Amino acid sequence: MNRIQALAPEVINQIAAGEIIERPASVLKELVENALDAGGTDLTVSVQDGGLRSLRLVDNGMGMSAEDARLAVRRHTTSKLRGIDDLQALRSFGFRGEALASIASVSKLTLCTKRPDDEVGTRLRMVGDDIVAEEQVGLAGGTDLLVEDLFHNVPARRKFLKTPGAEYAKLHETLVRLALPAAETSFRLIKDGKQVLHLPATSSFVARICKAFPQLLPEHLLEVSEQREEASLYGFLSGPDYSRSMARQVMFYVNGRLISDRRLGYAVQEAYRTLLLVGRHPFCVLFLNLPPDRVDVNVHPQKSEVRFLHPEQVFSLVLHTVRAALSGLGKPATASIELPSSAGLPPLPCFEPTSPRRGAGTWLPATPREPLLVQASLFDVPSPPSLPMQPELGEESGDYAETGRYYRDLVYLGQFRRTYLVCERNEELVLVDQHAAYERLNFEWLAAAYRNGRGASQDLLFPERVELGRELGADYDRLATALGRLGFVLEPFSSTSVVVRSVPEILARGDVAGLVEDAFAELTSLGDELSLGRALDNLLATMACHQSVRADQPLAEEDVRRLFRDLDTISNAHHCPHGRPIHQSLPLPELERLFKRR
Ligand SMILES: Nc1ncnc2c1ncn2[C@@H]1O[C@H](COP(=O)(O)OP(=O)(O)OP(=O)(O)O)[C@@H](O)[C@H]1O
Ligand SMILES: [Mg+2]
Repeated sequence: MNRIQALAPEVINQIAAGEIIERPASVLKELVENALDAGGTDLTVSVQDGGLRSLRLVDNGMGMSAEDARLAVRRHTTSKLRGIDDLQALRSFGFRGEALASIASVSKLTLCTKRPDDEVGTRLRMVGDDIVAEEQVGLAGGTDLLVEDLFHNVPARRKFLKTPGAEYAKLHETLVRLALPAAETSFRLIKDGKQVLHLPATSSFVARICKAFPQLLPEHLLEVSEQREEASLYGFLSGPDYSRSMARQVMFYVNGRLISDRRLGYAVQEAYRTLLLVGRHPFCVLFLNLPPDRVDVNVHPQKSEVRFLHPEQVFSLVLHTVRAALSGLGKPATASIELPSSAGLPPLPCFEPTSPRRGAGTWLPATPREPLLVQASLFDVPSPPSLPMQPELGEESGDYAETGRYYRDLVYLGQFRRTYLVCERNEELVLVDQHAAYERLNFEWLAAAYRNGRGASQDLLFPERVELGRELGADYDRLATALGRLGFVLEPFSSTSVVVRSVPEILARGDVAGLVEDAFAELTSLGDELSLGRALDNLLATMACHQSVRADQPLAEEDVRRLFRDLDTISNAHHCPHGRPIHQSLPLPELERLFKRR
């Protein structure tokens, strides 16, 4: 007997289905994408037992003829692609022609569908790969897909499913993510007979976001919008006042398609560095639009990953746009929930490149953000010239353009425990953490000095030898140049050690060896393009901290006034480089409530 045998068609289909349909949330994704591709504007999802018992999606899209319905559930049948070249101009979510067939082969599927102008609709019932019943039915125009007993015939896969509660949570999250860009489509989620979510159709993107993420307030959000060559980026971010312990609210869409991309996640993380505490993550939804021939969507059966023709440009676009938006951050203004009408929503499912609308959102922070400075920080390591989308660092980085007027409006009342500056501002009692304030100020000044290559330097009376414990190697030059801009003068001493001749003025009494060692260790251990930036950032934060006025230190009134004036001239004036808030306020009504006056 032959050892090798051809697999039975249903086994082939089940194996293929396994790549696409992993759990109820993957069924939901495929069905929602089909409904959006079909032009549906009103989608209702009903689930029982976390989608394990049943998952149903009713849409009001274009429906199908009886003939098309029969084809739709077959493998490799699609209305969205004719030839492979069409992939270069794809404007739909689907194109592989296998989602419905895959779902059918691992569940019991019932498809009811009718085109709006047809008299009657079609109902197909499938078990595995077979259509077991077909009949005509009356229904409104659209499609109604019911998926029951998922993986009833694949016990191995069923075993890996989580509890209905956990599967439901994933379904909910998936629906919200899919619904975010489709603001003009209404989504309902019914869980075990009860409506648990309704995202009504809206022309306001912010309204959709805030409805989908009830913990977010419009004033938490910053708009970003940037265009470089043929790529454009549009989206919303939270400021440093909002963070989560998981990165689940960091979402990327490429030409309207939800994708996961670790590098882009990393870019966002980098952009928030020094603004959020370690381990915290922002809300961030970014829509990247690229000409379809610059991105390959056909690299993953679930279509959840894409390949960029120029990944480094995309990375740079995300990193610098997010960072620029954050660096212009002021206190959020009062937020109106509607998008300015001129902003409009990018069309779906594929976002057309929009013209740059820098600072378009009138409901965004009061601080003027025009032009957006690509700010600073040391982490702006010069990138290889082959990256045309790198922003230029502006001349302006050195002079401290006024960026806000939060602090100058504070009336200083006194110091509490020689640590907190007690102030009033309008109808609020405000406490400023003096150490955090000086830390941020010094950090920004050091960063500016670095950018200008003007860190004031002081020669050491006794040059200090620093043993780095490993080969200096190729990284040495980059490290020495970067540290040189801060005011360090280093020379190689042996293959594993350097001599430090001069140090930044402010560090004259600091732990020079420790800092150089740390910077070098970080640089070599991370070993990627951002590592120098990270090393320098940490170095700066340490230097800033070292140099700062400490807690438990008396301050003269004029020092406080100068501090407030200086704080108003820098970016990121509301959080210290470690992400801790610099000030907290207690509004008068809350104070009155405390005293039972209200
Ligand atoms: N809700 C729907 N309304 C109208 N037509 C639909 C709907 N769902 C599926 N179809 C039709 O059935 C076809 C097959 O759907 P299926 O999801 O299997 O493949 P696809 O969307 O073309 O590609 P992919 O496998 O990448 O999702 C689609 O091309 C579309 O013509
Ligand atoms: Mg599809």
